[in-house]
Amino acid sequence: MLEDWLGPKAAALEARGLTRRLRARAADDDLIDLAGNDYLGLARDPRVVSAAAAAVQTWGTGSTASRLVTGTTELHEDLEAALAAYTGQESALAFSSGYLANLGVVTALGGPGTLLVSDEHVHASLVDACRLARSRVEIVPHNDVDAVEKVLAERNEPHALVMTESIFSVLSDEAPLPELAAVAAANNAVLLVDEAHGLGVSGNGHGSVHAAGLAGLDHVVVTMTLSKSLASQGGVVLGPVVLRKHLVNRARPFIYDTGLTPAACAAALAALRVLQAEPDRPAAIHVAAARLAAACEVPPARGAVVSVPMPGPRETVRAAELCLRNGVRVGSFRPPSVPDGISRLRLTAHAGLSAEELDRACAVIVDAIGQVS
Ligand SMILES: Cc1ncc(COP(=O)(O)O)c(C=O)c1O
Repeated sequence: MLEDWLGPKAAALEARGLTRRLRARAADDDLIDLAGNDYLGLARDPRVVSAAAAAVQTWGTGSTASRLVTGTTELHEDLEAALAAYTGQESALAFSSGYLANLGVVTALGGPGTLLVSDEHVHASLVDACRLARSRVEIVPHNDVDAVEKVLAERNEPHALVMTESIFSVLSDEAPLPELAAVAAANNAVLLVDEAHGLGVSGNGHGSVHAAGLAGLDHVVVTMTLSKSLASQGGVVLGPVVLRKHLVNRARPFIYDTGLTPAACAAALAALRVLQAEPDRPAAIHVAAARLAAACEVPPARGAVVSVPMPGPRETVRAAELCLRNGVRVGSFRPPSVPDGISRLRLTAHAGLSAEELDRACAVIVDAIGQVS
């Protein structure tokens, strides 16, 4: 039955070169990694690893229940306080993933009385949040502040939430945050900025909202993942205390989900402490990203991800395989994970890459692109 149902779908994907496959990695492979999101190179940092291990010893392996039952530990509260302080926000609330943080805040603010205004390039988690929110949704052209202003001004709903990313996942370009915040304020709307790619990267690590002087404003809300720069797992919503209270009472992905594990909290907190103690780490990401972009002859990225347009999905996969064979792991973006149908190699710059590793990676990648193009 499932073969008849799903077999033709799988064949259609395969015919278009769009099949996704899982590939387990070995703990001790010696590849140069440009595919993972460990932007600051902290996932194996002894300080982060030992903090996670100590949390397991102290608190056990799981958080034991949802946050409102027994799933909130002192570590959750320490992490939330530290993240709020670091990003200049009044409060923070941790979720068990960045995906759920986006679902939680958008659905808790959404509903029939709220217009959702979404940049056309936002991450899938915000797209899915719009689908769940029971709100009218307006999708506006990428980074088009005038279009945002128009839909806000013409709305009938009393409330509105404008959604963007500070640094976009695929193109690694920046949103015009000051302009969006001004338009939102003038039209009695809230601006939600997903800083998944900003935390630890932009604004000397504090993120783009902080750098733009927008942190702490009562109409600006931020979401983040703990899985990239903070080398852990989980997500967070940052903003005014009144929002945090609302989320604790109304965000279903918070209320009905088991709390983030203590080990994940401790790892994220330890990574944040390393970032604070070593504030030069974000600059190293930008040096590596600039080197990769120059080698591949693409415009410089604002974040850690350098996207290299490819002729098609098959060429992308083939180039990634050639890189792997030559000791360099790279990622790929293929439809439907791209906003414009263009497949790309996804090269993620990390703070921990040595100059030799970067030289080697650039040579391998350029050669692979040449072979498939
Ligand atoms: C922009 C953006 N938002 C949200 C997420 C989801 O975060 P998480 O992986 O913690 O669920 C990601 C990526 O993973 C992302 O790139």
